[in-house]
Amino acid sequence: MGATPTPPAEGCRPRALPLLSPIVPSIVNSYGLNYRGREATPACYHEPAMPPLSVYIHVPFCQRKCHYCDFNTYAGIDHLIPPYVEALLSELRNWAGLARGHQVTTVFLGGGTPSLLSGAQMQAVLDACRASFSLVPDPEITIEANPGTVAPGKLEQYRNAGVNRISFGAQSFDPGELAWLGRIHSEAQVGEAVAMARQAGFRRLNLDLICGLPGQSTARWEANLQQALALRPEHLSLYALSVEEGTPLAGWVASGRTPEPDPDVAADHYLAADTILSTAGFHNYEISNWAQPGEQCRHNLTYWENRPYLGLGAGAHGCFGGFRYHNILLPQEYIKRLTSNEDPSHSERPALAGMAGRVAAASPVAGINRVEPAEDLLDTLTLGLRLARGIAFGDFKARHQVDLRGRYGAVLAETQALGLLRAESERISLTVQGRLLANEVFVRFMNADTTGGPVTVAGPAGAQAD
Ligand SMILES: C[S@@+](CC[C@H](N)C(=O)[O-])C[C@H]1O[C@@H](n2cnc3c(N)ncnc32)[C@H](O)[C@@H]1O
Ligand code: SF4
Repeated sequence: MGATPTPPAEGCRPRALPLLSPIVPSIVNSYGLNYRGREATPACYHEPAMPPLSVYIHVPFCQRKCHYCDFNTYAGIDHLIPPYVEALLSELRNWAGLARGHQVTTVFLGGGTPSLLSGAQMQAVLDACRASFSLVPDPEITIEANPGTVAPGKLEQYRNAGVNRISFGAQSFDPGELAWLGRIHSEAQVGEAVAMARQAGFRRLNLDLICGLPGQSTARWEANLQQALALRPEHLSLYALSVEEGTPLAGWVASGRTPEPDPDVAADHYLAADTILSTAGFHNYEISNWAQPGEQCRHNLTYWENRPYLGLGAGAHGCFGGFRYHNILLPQEYIKRLTSNEDPSHSERPALAGMAGRVAAASPVAGINRVEPAEDLLDTLTLGLRLARGIAFGDFKARHQVDLRGRYGAVLAETQALGLLRAESERISLTVQGRLLANEVFVRFMNADTTGGPVTVAGPAGAQAD
């Protein structure tokens, strides 16, 4: 087959275009949008005065680094977990004033490995969330967990602290594949972790799996999926293996020890997954995510719907008040900035004014930018197209004052002719082929904007200059 896949991930991060065309550079970062230190960050611009908020909290610790992973997370610094939690509590307190009036609908602790936190530390973080934010009565509170790091007592403490959704990085059920990936757990431990979570009262559970491993047959991949389904998760996130710079995997590929992952194999795995999972009652509601009815990850929908969210913790990204920002990357620096009396808004830089200054006073930002209208419009478009339901013309017009059919008529016609996009009377969405080659579609919208002159939309309500 001619399509080229890629990966993304749930929750974490922020992060991801799953299936990239061979001829299109990776324009959109290939991971979820919340959990990576340097992910593509969606914008948030035209919002009601007090829109609902999601909160992402990054936990940058792992027992061991997996061979493929370049997330902002570190092994061998567990002694920093207690001061890091203190720093998080401080950052959470800093946000109380600015977030006042916003309803917080979801909290997502991603990593790294949030399941390295003790029950008491998790309780402290979620108590601080409740003290600083106005949480809706039924917030979705998710943690990412490595199956090799959980125990029954700790999971019960997490439940008691308010965590109501858990996402396990399973990756594979094949012992050879798990070892090759550098995972710390066995396939049996994934099943044990799921059983412990159910026993502790977790009704909502996700499993992450990675496909397209070099040499992985479709039959082997299908067996992984069947073993995952046997554990009865409500949600599955499937990512094609990507080779990230600076990882051991990248070194193996460069030295010829490991072949490059074959995008056509990953595309075959993606299509096999779609068949198996739809038969099992799952809906592929987002390019890399499948859920049973009503079990979509509400937190990640915030990113794909291009709505505002706070990012707390080292390297976390946030989007608030017409600005997007990212925090300093290193946990040591992050701790220092939040536990010293130093002004978190960077004393060596000129003071930031207005909303940018208020955000920088709450979080130790390393960068903050106003979200420009044209960028916001493209984010709504490219993130929204990741969803199976796509984008409704009416919603888009109401949000950006732009008629999609008028502005992008040529792109819509071309991508439909290529079989990548489906246009109905009310909306557009990607076809299956379009999901495999999503960047092909996105790049055409981006090029239309760069060649078609500036997009004229209304300015941001209330955003102030830096
Ligand atoms: C933060 S991790 C999940 C939780 C936990 N850290 C773990 O791994 O068990 C997020 C997910 O990103 C995916 N991921 C990370 N790096 C990847 C890569 N290079 N290629 C494909 N998927 C990747 C993995 O499926 C992983 O479970
Ligand atoms: S456990 Fe998760 S975050 Fe940590 S190195 Fe492995 S994939 Fe990355």
